[in-house]
Order: sequence, then structure tokens, then C-alpha cells
Amino acid sequence: MTLDVVILAAGQGTRMRSTLPKVLHRLAGKPMVRHVLDTARELEADRLHVVVGHGAERVREALAEYPVRFALQAEQKGTGHAVAQALEGLGDGKVLVLYGDVPLIRRETLAALLEEVDESRMGLLTVTLDDPTGYGRILRNERGQAVAIVEQKDASEKELAIHECNTGIMAMTASQLKRWLPRLSADNAQGEYYLTDIIAMAAAEGVVIATAQPADPLEVEGVNNRLQMAGLERAHQRHIAETLMTQGVALLDPSRLDVRGRLTCGHDVEIDVGCVFEGEVELGEGVRIGAHCVIRDSHIGAESVIEPHSVIEGAVAAGRNRIGPFARLRPGTRLAVGAKVGNFVETKNAEVGEGSKINHLSYVGDARLGRDVNVGAGTITCNYDGANKHRTDIGDDAFIGSNTALVAPVNVGRGATIGAGSTISKDVPDNALAVSRGRQIGKTDWARPTKKTRD
Ligand code: UD1
Ligand code: CA
Repeated sequence: MTLDVVILAAGQGTRMRSTLPKVLHRLAGKPMVRHVLDTARELEADRLHVVVGHGAERVREALAEYPVRFALQAEQKGTGHAVAQALEGLGDGKVLVLYGDVPLIRRETLAALLEEVDESRMGLLTVTLDDPTGYGRILRNERGQAVAIVEQKDASEKELAIHECNTGIMAMTASQLKRWLPRLSADNAQGEYYLTDIIAMAAAEGVVIATAQPADPLEVEGVNNRLQMAGLERAHQRHIAETLMTQGVALLDPSRLDVRGRLTCGHDVEIDVGCVFEGEVELGEGVRIGAHCVIRDSHIGAESVIEPHSVIEGAVAAGRNRIGPFARLRPGTRLAVGAKVGNFVETKNAEVGEGSKINHLSYVGDARLGRDVNVGAGTITCNYDGANKHRTDIGDDAFIGSNTALVAPVNVGRGATIGAGSTISKDVPDNALAVSRGRQIGKTDWARPTKKTRD
């Protein structure tokens, strides 16, 4: 059977107090609705439908690269009305209803729910909560079969005492849905078309309502305000931290780690507090990351040490590198084995050869450094002439004295030496010395000026 996934994302999210549509607020660096879509894709859905309403244009834009069919719910008349907007586009197989503000639902939970669906059965995901306030309650008959859902606002005293709640997530066949949805009425406390009313219709037809529970209640937790958003973020991060620790990563404090993307680690990686990992980051065996580093889309090879407060993006460090503290590696940085980048050094589009060192206060951009090059403090590759970028090439074993400006395009030969304070704008041959600075003058018998006294 084919699978259509319908994701409801039309609500306003008033309590977020934000101009951004609720489903675009980010969890682990990714809009909530994208978490849901990515999970739906893992289920290999044939079609993904997103029901948009409030902020429809922004939601459409944010999902531009997803293969999604949008259905517009111009007025929010309830969850049943929302699903009905997608009805026309459905195939004739199974349908799964998800929510753009319930981001952590897992593939396994949904796959199990979908297993239950055929023309004589439907699946309903429920959760038992200590405090069920606000949720629809699951009504069961004397044989324990689920037969209806009653919303909080429509419930009797006795029904309010039920702790088994509707998560909202359910699965059925398209033909069931096409039969039931047009029969919904808005004759209830909220004057809305409740999706939940299809449960009683199913039961009346003798369709079995198979209920399932998520492995972890976090999976079905929705977000209505920023407090819940932050709570879910922390819980999610905690989960990631625990997974990493199980895989052998030493986290100095699992509550002070943020992964916004995917972090892959070898054995015996150690991560100090306050680090943020974004996009795809890979840390090789034995890598140590100091406190408060931000690392994005990078590969850090085995046995490297990143000292605190370093910011690394789009870089590859081959291994046994020492980076920071306070280093900034920008995209296109490639460090060969054992290369060092020290404090207050910025690199961009720079290839640094084996064993080479840029230890202090430098900018190296659009450059290639051979092996065992020593770049002195305060060296700048002047790569930009205001219009175009130019390259600097430094040969093996070259020594660049402190406070050197290398005016690109320029080549410094193998084993060449640049005197401190030089501005180098012409190529330097192999093994040569280049110095370009004003000669020092010396005056003996020099009397310092003295302060004038007023008479
Ligand atoms: C709904 C369920 C309730 C369940 C709870 C779980 C109904 C009638 N009730 O209640 O049983 O326990 O979720 O959180 O389904 N939405 C639209 N268009 C609409 C209305 C809602 O897209 O016209 C979307 C919202 O953006 C939201 C979701 O559907 O993402 C749920 O709507 P909400 O109004 O929060 O439903 P609840 O009252 O919480
Ligand atoms: Ca809700």
C-alpha cells in the first residue's frame, strides 16, 4: 500500500509571541517541521503533504527544497478540517497524520503504528500522563477497546479522571478517511471540526482502533511556548549526549553540550563544557576539544587537540593537530598532519603542510604552505586588492619573520627567510633572505626633548 503523510502546520502559535510561524522555530538548529518531514522521509512516504495557514508563505519558503505538496487551510476550523484540506491529493493507500510542532517523533514508533492499518483497523498513538490536563482522553469500552476520544473542554468529571491521552498522531486508510471526514460536525465546546471524532465513527463501523505508545514520551511532546521549546531542546540534547557517552565519548558535563546536526566520534574523544557542533562534524580517535568551541561541518583527525574558544568551519585537520586557543579556521582550511594553528590566528582557504606552525596573531588566506614552515607572529597574507583575491605560496622549511605582510600574488621559495617587519611583494627565491624595511638609524649623543617650563 502507498503511504501519504499529512503534517498539520496551520496553527498560529500565539503563545510563542513571535512573528515567525511556530513550526519554523528551531530545535537542535533545525525548524521543527523539518524534523517531522525528515522522519516522514525515513518512512519512505510516497507523498508528503503539509497543511499551512498562519504564515503559509514563510513555511512554503522554508520548505522549498523538500518534495512537499502544500494544502492551504485559510481559516483554522479544527484538526479535522485541517486534514480535510489535503484529502484531494491523497493516494489510495495508508495515511499518517503528524504535527509540525511535535518534532521528536521517531520512525520506529510510526512504523509500528502503520503496521496496524488495513481496511478493518486503524492505528492511534496514545500516551499515559500524570497530568493529562488539556489533552483529549481515550475512552475504552468494557472489553478495553478504544472507542472514542473526548476533548478536555467537552469531557465529564468522570472522563477528566482518565490519564490515557490522545497524542493526535494516527494512521488509517485513505478510503476510511474519505468516508469519515465529510461527516464531522462542529457541534462541540470549541465549535471546531475535531479529527478526534473519527475514532467514534470507526468504532461504530466495527473498525478496530489499535493503540500504540511511544517508547519515550518526549516523542509526542508538542511545543506551544518558548518554555516548552527550551525544555524539549534540553531533553533532546541530553538524549544526544547520552548516546555519545554510550559510544565511548567522554563529556565533561553532558548537560553542557549542543549538537545541531550530526556529530560522529572515534573512541576516547573528550569534549569539555560549552561546545557547539553544527552540521556534519567528525572527530577522530583521541581528539580533545577544549571548553567553548564552535565546530561546524568539519573533520578533525585523530589525536588532535582543540584548545578552548576556537571557532572552526568547513575545515579538515588531518590528525595530531594543535589548534587554538582562540583560533578561527574558516572554510577551505586544510591542515596536514601535525600542523599547528595558535591563538588569534585566522585561516581561510589555506593549505598548511605537515608540521608547519602559525602560532600567533596571523591571517593566512588563499595560501599554500609547504612542510615545516614557521610563520611568525603578526603575519598577514594580503590576499585581497579590493577587487580580486590572490594566492600566496610558501615553500617547505621557509621562515617568515614576525609582522610580515605578504602581498599576494607572491611566492616564497623553499628554505627562504623573511626578515621581521617586511612587506613582501616580489617572489623570494629558494634559500634566499628577503628583508624589506627601513634601515635602523642610530644617533649617539641624543638628547631627549625636555618639557618647556613657563617663566
Ligand atoms: C489536539 C487533539 C487532542 C490531543 C492534542 C495533543 C483534536 C480535536 N484534539 O488538541 O485530542 O490530545 O491535540 O496535543 O484534534 N491545527 C491546524 N489547523 C487547525 C487546528 C489545528 O493546522 O484548524 C494544528 C495546530 O497547528 C497544531 C495541531 O493541529 O499543530 C493541534 O492543534 P491544537 O489546536 O493544538 O489541538 P489541541 O487542542 O491541543
Ligand atoms: Ca496542542
